Amino acid sequence: MERKITVPDLQRMKDAGTKITALTAYDFSFGRIVDAAGVDVILVGDSLGMVVQGLETTLPVTLEETIYHCRMVARARRRALLVADLPFLTYQVSVQDALRNAGRLIKEGGAEAVKLEGGIAMADTIAALAAVDIPVMGHVGLTPQSVHRMGGHRVQGRRRGQGPGERERVIADAHAVADAGAFAVVLEGIPLDLAAEITAQIDIPTIGIGAGRHCDGQILVLHDVLGLFGDFAPKFAKRYADLGRAAVEAIAEYTGEVRGGVFPDDAHSFLLRAEQPSVATIDVTPAPAIDAIPTPPLEHGPPTSIGGAPGRSRRRRAVG
Ligand code: KIV
Repeated sequence: MERKITVPDLQRMKDAGTKITALTAYDFSFGRIVDAAGVDVILVGDSLGMVVQGLETTLPVTLEETIYHCRMVARARRRALLVADLPFLTYQVSVQDALRNAGRLIKEGGAEAVKLEGGIAMADTIAALAAVDIPVMGHVGLTPQSVHRMGGHRVQGRRRGQGPGERERVIADAHAVADAGAFAVVLEGIPLDLAAEITAQIDIPTIGIGAGRHCDGQILVLHDVLGLFGDFAPKFAKRYADLGRAAVEAIAEYTGEVRGGVFPDDAHSFLLRAEQPSVATIDVTPAPAIDAIPTPPLEHGPPTSIGGAPGRSRRRRAVG
């Protein structure tokens, strides 16, 4: 395994001009794939509300759900730095809430850092988290938790001005996040020249999504990269594979083979051993209720993929 990526490594990468790669993941299987592919940062983003839960926005995602998903990814992660999103309303009400909830993402979720949205308004919160050594990744520009204020998921920083979402305000937000002690900041949905300006001005790494090539690193939502989210393709997200289509084709082939009697063939079946009678003696007595079965100690690891836990009596069926 290559050396584990840590929070200070990201700063070293910015200073050395090495681009930082980041992707989201939400479960063990994809966490393992993303980590094995050598991505530097895995984010358990609240985008899980949209791509995993099928919601319209990220707003309903809860802390418990994020911890649940983060744990799965933490079990898979070997090399990447694992960052978890603080969901909407888990850090905005009070600094105490933010500390407690960020702490749970670290302690229960296995995250190594947390991400939260907002600039100037979140500076005190970021400083409080940093003061107790909870590394914080900021997030400014298009902040999806502000979807109602923005009137949709709209590009920010196009107009000059100091108002929310205006160019000078996005710059001020990025500075506030850096000055408060964040170790990196996501720049989302802003023109590429604005992202270039911010990246040149602040010392911490900028990680862009829909913010052009001048950021210190890039992040995308895994489902967009792999083509797992139907035909929806945001302008900024490049699709590197069409796994959704490949999965539909594979499953259609499976259902066709089952319906046609092609699957399972002998190669995917358990055959009688030579010494066994050609027609097995079969015990077809009903299985006892599950709570009537004494649970043996789990000596041989977790249940196998066939037949349940080792040692548990199984019903037999005719096989010959
Ligand atoms: O929730 C998320 O996945 C994110 C990234 C897109 C930056 O915040």
